[in-house]
Amino acid sequence: MKRIAVLASGNGSNLEAILAAIADGRIQNARVVLVISDKEEAYALVRAQKHNIPTRVFRPQDYPSREAYDRAMIEFLQAEAIDLVVMAGFMRLVTPEFVAAFRHRIMNIHPSLLPAFPGTRGVADALAYGVKVTGCTVHFVDEGMDTGPIILQEALPVRPDDTVDSLQERIHALEHRLYPQAIDLWVRGKIKIRGRRCCIDE
Ligand code: GRF
Repeated sequence: MKRIAVLASGNGSNLEAILAAIADGRIQNARVVLVISDKEEAYALVRAQKHNIPTRVFRPQDYPSREAYDRAMIEFLQAEAIDLVVMAGFMRLVTPEFVAAFRHRIMNIHPSLLPAFPGTRGVADALAYGVKVTGCTVHFVDEGMDTGPIILQEALPVRPDDTVDSLQERIHALEHRLYPQAIDLWVRGKIKIRGRRCCIDE
């Protein structure tokens, strides 16, 4: 049974989607055993509590540096014997030390077709640029911002009358389907990493 920790700073709809996938068997042999946030007010924590999942808040202001913050988190994750770290709207860049401690065991989801529109405004940037197609990306986390090996991607047409909200809503629906798929592939050992390419053997 793989032990998953979900890191979230906000709403936690992806956390909810992952929990639903575990509950209905789309992800087997894995459990979310921990939800961590950098924000006490994150609704993701409320969702976790409703599912009786232990939560923990690491407040950045309690640590002297990013390195110290990440070190505390690494120690905690290791003490909890976490196999996979799933970032779901976690709005912090992790340090190289964190990446090294969980190399190819940290996933992130991003609301654009990377490498286009990285950063915190992926949906708004894609809309403003005028692309006709966007989508979402699940990738492993490396030292860069939204640069790690891509696990799954799916595209979505941008409609002429789209707003950030309407586009975000459709991207979210896509994320909720794609993230559980990527986690399931990882749990079943189906992802092979060659350089920066992930090869999926089904
Ligand atoms: C998602 O759009 C994800 O792509 C981005 O942050 C958002 C998190 O949404 N990284 P939620 O908190 O899971 O609802």
